[in-house]
Amino acid sequence: MVTDSSYSAERPERILARRSGPLHGEVSVPGAKNAVLKLMAATLLADGHYELSNVPGIADVGTMGELLAAMGVTSRIDPARPDVLLMENTGVITPEAPYDLVERIRASIVVLGPLLARCGVARVSMPGGDDFGKRPIDMHLKGLESLGATFELRRGYIEARTDGLHGADITLDFPSVGATENIVMAAVLAKGPTVIDNAAREPEIADLCAFLNSMGAVIEGMGSPTLYVHGVPQSDLRPVQHAVVPDRVQAATYMAAVAACQGEVLVRGARAEHMEMYLRRLREMGVQSTPQNEGVLVYSDGRRLRSLDVQTLPYPGFATDYKPLVVTLLTVADGVGIVTENLYPGRFRYVEELQRLGADIRTDGHHAVVRGVSSLDGAQVRAPDIRAGAALVVAGLMASGETVISDIHHVDRGYDDLVGRLASLGADIERVR
Ligand code: UD1
Repeated sequence: MVTDSSYSAERPERILARRSGPLHGEVSVPGAKNAVLKLMAATLLADGHYELSNVPGIADVGTMGELLAAMGVTSRIDPARPDVLLMENTGVITPEAPYDLVERIRASIVVLGPLLARCGVARVSMPGGDDFGKRPIDMHLKGLESLGATFELRRGYIEARTDGLHGADITLDFPSVGATENIVMAAVLAKGPTVIDNAAREPEIADLCAFLNSMGAVIEGMGSPTLYVHGVPQSDLRPVQHAVVPDRVQAATYMAAVAACQGEVLVRGARAEHMEMYLRRLREMGVQSTPQNEGVLVYSDGRRLRSLDVQTLPYPGFATDYKPLVVTLLTVADGVGIVTENLYPGRFRYVEELQRLGADIRTDGHHAVVRGVSSLDGAQVRAPDIRAGAALVVAGLMASGETVISDIHHVDRGYDDLVGRLASLGADIERVR
């Protein structure tokens, strides 16, 4: 598993960042956290050996590996290829996801669908992970119920069972990423066809569907709001090799660093077609980008960024995971920008940290009003979650003096050597004790 001890949550390292720029060179974007964790869960569906490549070296991959190991699916990094995860479904599955692992990673709820499909029963602790806002799972359970599962909530555990899943027509109240994934993975082995309307359309879901189809599943409508899943017998599924889709949020982070520090950087592996809304917003702020065969070239000429208003929406709208980055850029932009969060009510906690750096931000419900200041000043701040932690790193590269970011185990959950990659572009940044 991912065992690099310098990334262990037990060792309280910090990130030290100083004003940097311009950034130059190229940076490669690893595979997406929000895809690889679901692909790993999908290996519960069929026995045998899998090979996932372009796997990010992040703590959450290790946690998901531990969770699956407890169920009977082992995983290890290929010693010759650090981005390759070798997994084996031993065929002896214990359909139980224990509290101590599930509470570390909310994405673990996606084992529920495959476990039900594979074993007919599942016992899964209620999920934890990033602690922002209330994150219910009612749509997951309602969708799986339509497929013939029943649930009891007992002492913090979801106890699920079915006498056999069957296809159904399901309309989600909201295009939930996790609910779409859980339902798709269950429907793959259900008897008959399933239609999921108002399905989430994120590129990571399309990646999961492509993975399942290469295993032998029959899913149509990928990338559209309606998914059609034609159930197949379990004997039709086989293990496969698959390259994880590049991480658009990590890509967005390096692009935000260029916006913050100026310069010209090729973000290798970034897919412009997966980040259209983000690139459009960057252009409106004055940061240019050119899609190329191998990635996206981003450049900023040093003029002050322009403010704008942004609201988060399900894909293809502006992703909530980009929001801390754009709020950070707005803190020094010319004018006032209003950022509206439509997905997670409580997701503005990093604002206090940006205020420590001198940012002028007022929050009101799910809006943040950001008035650009001429510059930020370095300070000690804390990473409250994965994405906000990365945004504070970007803020540290703009601020005068030194910015010290603590609680960086959050950043390590989702970023593969953020500090090393930024340093390779010329940023003045290091990990310190
Ligand atoms: C995934 C991503 C996360 C991203 C989010 C939205 C992973 C591991 N995480 O999270 O990085 O920020 O998509 O793009 O892929 N909701 C309900 N009931 C449900 C399910 C969801 O009310 O049954 C609500 C949630 O509380 C939240 C909103 O719907 O307010 C979006 O949730 P969802 O799309 O399910 O996100 P996740 O899969 O949790």
